[in-house]
Amino acid sequence: LGIDTSCDETAAAVVADGREVLSNIVASQVETHQEYGGVVPELASRKHIEAINYIVSRSLAEAGVTFKDLEAIAVTNRPGLIGALLVGVAAAKSLAYCHNLPLLGINHIEGHIYAPFLALLASQNLLSCLTVSGGHTLLVEVHEGWQYKVLGSTQDDAAGEVYDKVAKYLGLGFPGGKVIDDLAQKGNPSAVKFPRPMRNTDDYQFSFSGIKTSVRYFVEKARRAGLLVENGQQDIAASFQAAVVDVLVYKSLRAVKATGAAAITLTGGVAANSHLRASLKLAAAEIGAEVYYPPMNLCTDNGAMIAGIAYQKYQQGLRDGLSLNATPKGSIF
Ligand code: KG4
Ligand code: ZN
Repeated sequence: LGIDTSCDETAAAVVADGREVLSNIVASQVETHQEYGGVVPELASRKHIEAINYIVSRSLAEAGVTFKDLEAIAVTNRPGLIGALLVGVAAAKSLAYCHNLPLLGINHIEGHIYAPFLALLASQNLLSCLTVSGGHTLLVEVHEGWQYKVLGSTQDDAAGEVYDKVAKYLGLGFPGGKVIDDLAQKGNPSAVKFPRPMRNTDDYQFSFSGIKTSVRYFVEKARRAGLLVENGQQDIAASFQAAVVDVLVYKSLRAVKATGAAAITLTGGVAANSHLRASLKLAAAEIGAEVYYPPMNLCTDNGAMIAGIAYQKYQQGLRDGLSLNATPKGSIF
């Protein structure tokens, strides 16, 4: 059983042998946070408390198992909103205690990195993984034995965070990723030349706040001039998306070339982005690298990815690692 309450989704799933997703239940809190234009941590915690028991029960029922069939319980204990994490960890602790099951604390980012290995990828020779979500943007080298090397990460905002902010500037609601993705498909990606921060730096770091600010000023100016008609919105969305995806794809490809990785995996909420998926595939094909991304419901936050990586760690001997939001010795995330 894998549980994740790190942000605004209450999630529980049952996974067999680290591969087969028997159930994957997610209660989204989007409606609760929508009117505030972002996740309100205290509200997230309260909503998790309301949902957690039901979501866990449903995950067992849908998998057709009871607690007696489980081998272990895993829960995300870092990183995330502290109050939100606390709810999942408290629930998992109680369940493990009551049912006398081992309990494993799992890093949320390791969960995202594992998502493509649920059903999709079997082996795990060296590969590069681009993890892009509302809270994280990381390029990671994944080695045999679930060892990781972080090549680079964002120096400021996460890619998803910037999508959400830009949607806010355009008055498109929250969260912004999918709306901008859809709108961008009707717009001209070359209409506005937004900056590509750190694209050409000699490393694997990212920076997105400059793009965000640039879009903000552009939108304010266009609005003042009365130019923000529908086409304008589409063009801004497409041009903004082109800038973000350009940098992500360029640096990911650089990593693949430099490390000799045979494949690149794409995961996290922004991995649902149609332009990112298509561009990365196209660019990778040119250098003969494979691209793997999990289905949408495994890209965004879920319990299956937590159960999956927990199974692998359990095989390696991990039995708890549970102190809340603490980074264990040797952890690189
Ligand atoms: O992984 P996730 O569910 O939660 C975090 O751990 O952050 O990612 C959520 C993020 C949000 O910022 C959302 O706007 C973004 O993923 N997202 C997208 C798309 N779908 C979701 N961003 C771009 N294009 C999409 N289609
Ligand atoms: Zn996430």
